[in-house]
Amino acid sequence: MDFLRERLASLKKSGLYRTLREHHGPQGATACIDGKEVVQLASNNYLGLANHPRLKAAAREALEAFGSGSGASRLVCGNLALNGKLEDKIAAVKGQESALLFSTGYMANIGILAALMEEGDVIFSDALNHASIIDGCRMSRAQTVVYPHKDMGALEKALMESKHSRKRLVVTDGIFSMDGDITPLPDLVTLAERYGCMLMVDDAHATGVLGAHGGGTGEHFALADRVDITMGTLGKALGGFGAFVAGDHTLRTFLINRARPFIFTTGLPPAVIASGIAALELLEAEPELRVRLWENVAFFREGMAIKRPLDP
Ligand SMILES: Cc1ncc(COP(=O)(O)O)c(C=O)c1O
Repeated sequence: MDFLRERLASLKKSGLYRTLREHHGPQGATACIDGKEVVQLASNNYLGLANHPRLKAAAREALEAFGSGSGASRLVCGNLALNGKLEDKIAAVKGQESALLFSTGYMANIGILAALMEEGDVIFSDALNHASIIDGCRMSRAQTVVYPHKDMGALEKALMESKHSRKRLVVTDGIFSMDGDITPLPDLVTLAERYGCMLMVDDAHATGVLGAHGGGTGEHFALADRVDITMGTLGKALGGFGAFVAGDHTLRTFLINRARPFIFTTGLPPAVIASGIAALELLEAEPELRVRLWENVAFFREGMAIKRPLDP
């Protein structure tokens, strides 16, 4: 086991060593970290739902009614009816025929990519896509072409060069997780259609944030019906936990049959599903949550742009 110490030492040396910090209390605008009160700017809790009374009440009710765990994978006997209710709500907000829940966004991405793509296929992946997409590409065994961030010229060139491959899929974050910029969806849709390629959008950070109803990148650009596969998470703007894929019925049925992270894992706990349903109801009932978010974004950006003269 000596290699562990050596690897850790090398991580420290290169500034890549990670440590955990303890947070106390719920997610909010401020946080208590290591006993110190700080302003929270790192969380994905964009709408402040992670500690919302309606989500907590829904979770408590489901806990009382259905217990703490689902007991098995959904294909065995863990398919509580709550799953279907949440999936219908997700499909509606995403403007898609159907949806399928996954335990996490990480599992959704590796599950979708490894189920759909295989050796002999090509995946085109933006250079700044999330790690779970990168891992999904690797697990699929398809050839992966990483195009420079949002470079549509480079993507088109790669598409032209791979005309004779079997299946092809372009995959992109909707809002990029680290830089916060939005993918050029209209160009991606055009290219995917021109070259007969599937298009997958990871809307982990855009769900609840972009679009008049919080439907995400597809709704923002009025192109939801031209995206083949949309995934998203319930753990960011929706303030809970879990993830989903939205698309047509055939995609859903295929993933139920072939996505290993769906098949071989325990269904989400009832309280988690119920808080997801409550979050989507709030998204619909309180559009002002999104208005407030964008006002806060504008306020923060404006404030950061002010260059104060250095103190004498
Ligand atoms: C773009 C993106 N996709 C997927 C995920 C994974 O989601 P989860 O945290 O539900 O596993 C994340 C999480 O940070 C993300 O930022």
